[in-house]
Amino acid sequence: MQTHEIRKRFLDHFVRAGHTEVPSASVILDDPNLLFVNAGMVQFVPYFLGQRTPPYNTATSIQKCIRTPDIDEVGITTRHNTFFQMAGNFSFGDYFKRGAIELAWTLLTSPVAEGGYGFDPEKLWATVYYDDDEAAQLWQEIAGLPSERIQRRGMADNYWSMGIPGPCGPSSEIYYDRGPEYGIEGGPEANEDRYIEIWNLVFMQNERGEGTSKEDFEILGPLPRKNIDTGMGVERVACLLQGVDNVYETDLLRPVIDTVAAIAPRGYATGNHDDDVRYRIIADHSRTAAIIIGDGVTPSNEGRGYVLRRLLRRIIRAAKLLGVDQPVMASLMATVREAMGPSYPELAADFDRISRIAVAEETAFNRTLAAGSKLFDEAAAATRSSGKTTLSGSDAFTLHDTYGFPIDLTLEMAGEAGLSVDELGFRELMAEQRRRAKADAAARKHAHADLSAYRELVDTGPTEFTGFDELSSDARILGIFVDGKRVPVVAHHARVHSETPPPERVEIVLDRTPLYAESGGQIADVGTIAGGGSGGTSRAAVTDVQKIAKTLFVHRVNVESGEFVEGDTVTAAVDPKWRHGATQGHSGTHMVHAALRQVLGPNAVQAGSLNRPGYLRFDFNWQGPLSEQQRSEIEIVTNEAVEADHEVHTFHTQLEKAKAMGAMALFGEAYPEEVRVVEIGGPFSLELCGGTHVHNSAQIGPVTILGESSVGSGVRRVEAYVGLESFQHLAKERALMAGLASSLKVPSEEVPARVANLVERLKVAEKELEKTRLANARSAAVNAAAGAQRVGKVRLVAQRMSGGMTAADLRSLVGDVRGKLGAEPAVVALIAEGDNGSVPFVVAVNQGALDAGLNANQLVKALSPAVDGRGGGKPDLAQGSGKNGSGIDAALDALRAEVARS
Ligand code: ALA
Repeated sequence: MQTHEIRKRFLDHFVRAGHTEVPSASVILDDPNLLFVNAGMVQFVPYFLGQRTPPYNTATSIQKCIRTPDIDEVGITTRHNTFFQMAGNFSFGDYFKRGAIELAWTLLTSPVAEGGYGFDPEKLWATVYYDDDEAAQLWQEIAGLPSERIQRRGMADNYWSMGIPGPCGPSSEIYYDRGPEYGIEGGPEANEDRYIEIWNLVFMQNERGEGTSKEDFEILGPLPRKNIDTGMGVERVACLLQGVDNVYETDLLRPVIDTVAAIAPRGYATGNHDDDVRYRIIADHSRTAAIIIGDGVTPSNEGRGYVLRRLLRRIIRAAKLLGVDQPVMASLMATVREAMGPSYPELAADFDRISRIAVAEETAFNRTLAAGSKLFDEAAAATRSSGKTTLSGSDAFTLHDTYGFPIDLTLEMAGEAGLSVDELGFRELMAEQRRRAKADAAARKHAHADLSAYRELVDTGPTEFTGFDELSSDARILGIFVDGKRVPVVAHHARVHSETPPPERVEIVLDRTPLYAESGGQIADVGTIAGGGSGGTSRAAVTDVQKIAKTLFVHRVNVESGEFVEGDTVTAAVDPKWRHGATQGHSGTHMVHAALRQVLGPNAVQAGSLNRPGYLRFDFNWQGPLSEQQRSEIEIVTNEAVEADHEVHTFHTQLEKAKAMGAMALFGEAYPEEVRVVEIGGPFSLELCGGTHVHNSAQIGPVTILGESSVGSGVRRVEAYVGLESFQHLAKERALMAGLASSLKVPSEEVPARVANLVERLKVAEKELEKTRLANARSAAVNAAAGAQRVGKVRLVAQRMSGGMTAADLRSLVGDVRGKLGAEPAVVALIAEGDNGSVPFVVAVNQGALDAGLNANQLVKALSPAVDGRGGGKPDLAQGSGKNGSGIDAALDALRAEVARS
């Protein structure tokens, strides 16, 4: 049975049983503690916790899930995927254990002809939480399972949570026995490869707090209602129903293996275990990477971007280890599209972008690999030349850390070079790095845990944003927080009189506010909150506004006078000048975006933006730098559209309608059903946006593009000044130009020609200078040769040269002099007082002198001590450098003595 059919039967079964079919959420949800969505229930968490009322009592979905903690198991076991599809059914206070078991059992065991999966009931096993007699009893009653096929397991296996605070509960898992060829008998307790888990039924009834592991966390208390959350592994069911050995050979993954096998020197399943694992890694990771990029992640060095980068690099490395030398990413992505497109149309629709990003990472990583290989060669040579046969742990670590070389690649290359690797040392360094990373992560988690303090207010409802219509609003204080703790009142902290230090973070939550909270690239408004009733004496400056849970506006403040009490009525006001600048910045961003697309085409997709009064920056997907002409065109199109004084029109509509109109939406962003659209100049700029904007485009003022640069592979950034800042920037440039013109004593239009002319003249002068130097050197050589003395059989030139000569000067001179001395044994030694107190020296001997037993290397050693120098070289030419110019004469004497001796 094909995967597509397995998915369809699942949804049909539960829809028939009254469930609402809900589409998969993006793999990225707005929770800083959860890197990726890892279960079907994640999008329903607020329903389980009772924070929001579900629009249905039961639901079913097939959720895209990413789980990377087991990444090292991929390809080695038969069942681990970093991306998999979790088919689930959910009950929000509707049916509980009995319903869940009945529904799952029916679908699994109904005959294929009747819409089921047709599993042999004799091969199915169940596990229950160790004290869950009720579930065990239901398995016997509903499924007729004998008690020996119902195993009881502890917290680690049969108690489920997302791994972070949230809903949790005991679970019951369903396993399929693949038979004795997969391992020993004894049920899932004995062997999870033979008994493969296909479905997990979670009886979601409690809420958990922080904890350190699957078995160690605090249960905070029961949820408002008893719920059901289940997850069936679509890939695992496909593996069983398709009669293949492992999940990587199912219909959605096998084509990727075949694509690689077609170009690799050694095929798949040839009996080479390591090779097979590599094929499976490529199949698994290609699919995961495509899905993650599809949901808006780009490769980077942290967080989700890092996970993506790691997956892509593991693919490239696995392909290399399989002996594939050519780039593979483009064909892998095309294969993933073919296989997955029918279930995930977004992969096909967005294929160009996905493929472009993956290929860019491959190109960049191949460059890194080339650089790393160079380092490897050097390290290997150094290891060998020091007589060792083991590459150090720190070399292996540098290769890993700086060049992204996985250890097995280093091992492989070392093996080829006849070396081993200090793996223990490498692992110690890796462990050290992980300890540091863990400490960082723990610190971050802690900061986030504080958010639970705001939960009560999140539940009471959203803050109303009044700032589209007014700059000042009356509001009520819903809550006050000092350093993350809720307090009833906060007062101005008169430092002089107080023993206690002032609080670090004071926050005020209002029921309504005109102050914009940072979002959509626009930074928060600044302004004030004032209160104190008739006295009007309390005042706080608002320095930042952030949204919590997307709905609650939290104002970070400095209390400047008086006090604020929860429940007080206050007046919140935006600084009008700031807001004016903010609207210019945000509208300017839309104009630049529109101009970019007009000039570069629709492939220039927004990847992020930031705007504040006077400044904006805009990131977009694009390969390679923009040309000077593209850049100036973008600037011209932007400013012409500003100048056209288009009316700015905002309205609300259905998401689908807005998209149909062609409104730009940010990739990977979850938008509500009803969205706000900002339209400037009709079709010129149409974007989904919750920001504050000017009324007419001319209010944006001039837009000056500062530059364009790369921010990671395949992403470019333009930056611009807007409004008055734009003017000030131009004025500064003008002043610079005026300064240049006056130094060069020409009108400004002539500055470029003048500078070009100066550069040209400088070149000519440098050439002249060089000629003179050469002529001087030649005459110096002639003079020096003329001054040759005789020391025994040898003609010796030993001279101090005029100051400022470099080692290079001496080298060329010494050769010239030697050439003028003929075939008789001759030695030339020149010392100069160079720049910065250095004392370079060079000694040359000719063939005659060599034959007579003289050696330049030895002579250099003889003269160097007198000038505190060191040196060496070859028998016919040696050089060095000293630090003591006052020893030059003594050095020359030492040299003469040495020549005389030989
Ligand atoms: N949420 C449960 C799981 O992921 C079903 O296993």
